[in-house]
Amino acid sequence: MEIVIESNSERAGVLAARLIARLVREKPDAVLGLATGSTPLGVYRELVRMHREEHLDFSRVTTFNLDEYVGLSGAHPASYRRFMEENLFSQINVAPQNVFIPDGMASDVPGFCREYEDRIRAHGGIDVQLLGIGGDGHIGFNEPSSSLASRTRIKTLTPKTRQDNARFFASPEEVPHHVITMGVGTILDARQVVLLALGAGKARAVREAVEGPVTAMVPASVLQMHPSVKVLLDSQAASELERSDYYRWVYENKPDWQRF
Ligand code: PGA
Repeated sequence: MEIVIESNSERAGVLAARLIARLVREKPDAVLGLATGSTPLGVYRELVRMHREEHLDFSRVTTFNLDEYVGLSGAHPASYRRFMEENLFSQINVAPQNVFIPDGMASDVPGFCREYEDRIRAHGGIDVQLLGIGGDGHIGFNEPSSSLASRTRIKTLTPKTRQDNARFFASPEEVPHHVITMGVGTILDARQVVLLALGAGKARAVREAVEGPVTAMVPASVLQMHPSVKVLLDSQAASELERSDYYRWVYENKPDWQRF
């Protein structure tokens, strides 16, 4: 794992955007794995800026989102499809037919999940997967105890995650209980993973994921087994790391060709 600690959330988000932009420039038909929630907002703002001001071209890019609420159509204000349209897709030149988000209204959920996996494979797999992390260590909506080999499937949210996400809904009772999420195994298949964590509320989960044992109780900890993971943090999210001085030292002393 490569751990990068930035002084504030904006800088950490810009760094994640730069990694994605570099990939898109090198590989114009890149397959991006995308995330929702508060964390990636700065990343998407910066990608939109690069599209407008630096002609970053998404016309051949394909995107797969991590997850969606079961029972919400794409028109629902709290659906992840709507989130992605508002915060990214409507502001860049990605082709609508190249955008894939789990369908919260699928009538055959297991069948839909199999097709989603098949579709990712048919596109050659995900080049870079952007991730946030839940306060409980979840990635995607893979809550603690998720199989570390799991694939796209239906999951039940924990009460804590429903509470955390209530801010996006008119009332806490409206938060769905179920979601469709890529599995931990699906995420591990991405060629590169960028995990972004911002704020003190993520500090404990980050410490457990980075410095704790690999355990299904902290699904993000399995990223220790992935060959290419960058963990981008602001100083608050890094505040509980025991070896933060070491991570800073490593980053500052990188050879130029490894910088990003
Ligand atoms: P957040 O959610 O970005 O809204 O904090 C992250 C997550 O739950 O994965």
